[in-house]
Amino acid sequence: EFRVLPNAAEIASAVAAHIAQTLKAKPATTLGLATGNTFVPIYAALIDLYRQNGFSFAEAASFNLDEYVGLPKNHPASFRAYMRQRLFDHVDLPAERAMLPETEGDLAADCAAYEAAIAARGGIDLQLLGIGRNGHIGFNEPGSPFDSRTRVVELAQSTIEANKGDFPPGELPPSSAVTMGIGTIVDAREIVLVATGANKAAALTRAFNAPKDVDCPASALQDHPHVIIYCDPAALPA
Ligand code: F6R
Repeated sequence: EFRVLPNAAEIASAVAAHIAQTLKAKPATTLGLATGNTFVPIYAALIDLYRQNGFSFAEAASFNLDEYVGLPKNHPASFRAYMRQRLFDHVDLPAERAMLPETEGDLAADCAAYEAAIAARGGIDLQLLGIGRNGHIGFNEPGSPFDSRTRVVELAQSTIEANKGDFPPGELPPSSAVTMGIGTIVDAREIVLVATGANKAAALTRAFNAPKDVDCPASALQDHPHVIIYCDPAALPA
C-alpha cells in the first residue's frame, strides 16, 4: 500500500501519528527502528506528538536495524548516538529496552543474542525502514539472502559514500556493520517503509514494480502481507 504525501514534513507527521497510534493500541509494542536522514524529521515529529498527546513508551521496547562495527562507543556518527539524540533522550522508553546491535566483542554471539532478544519479546510489531539508493534495507546490501538473519556485513562502496556526510571531514564510515537480516525484517508483523526525494525513485521501482530479486533487497517486502510505503511524489516509482 502506497501513501503518497506532498512532502517530507507531511510524511513525518503521518508516520509519527502511525507510530503513536500503534503505541496507544498496544503499549507494550515492540518497535523496529531505523536511522538515516529520512527519519530525522519523523523522530522530531514523534517527540512533538509525544509531548502533546499522552501516549507512552514505558512498556515498549525497540530494536534498531543496524550499527557500524569499529566505532568507539559514543562516536557521534554511531547509530546509538543518533537514536539518543533524536529519540531516546526525549521519551520515556526505558534505556534497557532501547536496543541496538552490539558491535564489540564476540560479534557472532551478539548477533545470535539480538535475534533471541527479539524473539523473547514476541517479535517485532512495527518495523520502520528507509531504503538505500541501491535498494538496501537495514544494511542488507544487494545480494543479501532473503532468509538472512542478524549478522556482520560489509558495506557497499555506494553506502559508504552516501553516509560520509555523517562523519567528520576526512573520516570515512567503517566498512562493516551489524544488521538485522532480511529474514529478521520480514518477520515483523507490520512494516512501514519511508522514501523521500527523487534519488529513491529508482530503488522503489526495482523494489515494488519489478520481479523480486536479491539484487534489490527491498523487493523481499513484496511477499509481506502488511507493508505500508510512505513516499513523496518525487520518490514515487515509475
Ligand atoms: C538506517 C538503515 C538504512 C537507511 C537507508 C536510507 O538504519 O538501515 O537502510 O534507512 O540507507 O538512508 P537515508 O534515510 O539517509 O537516505
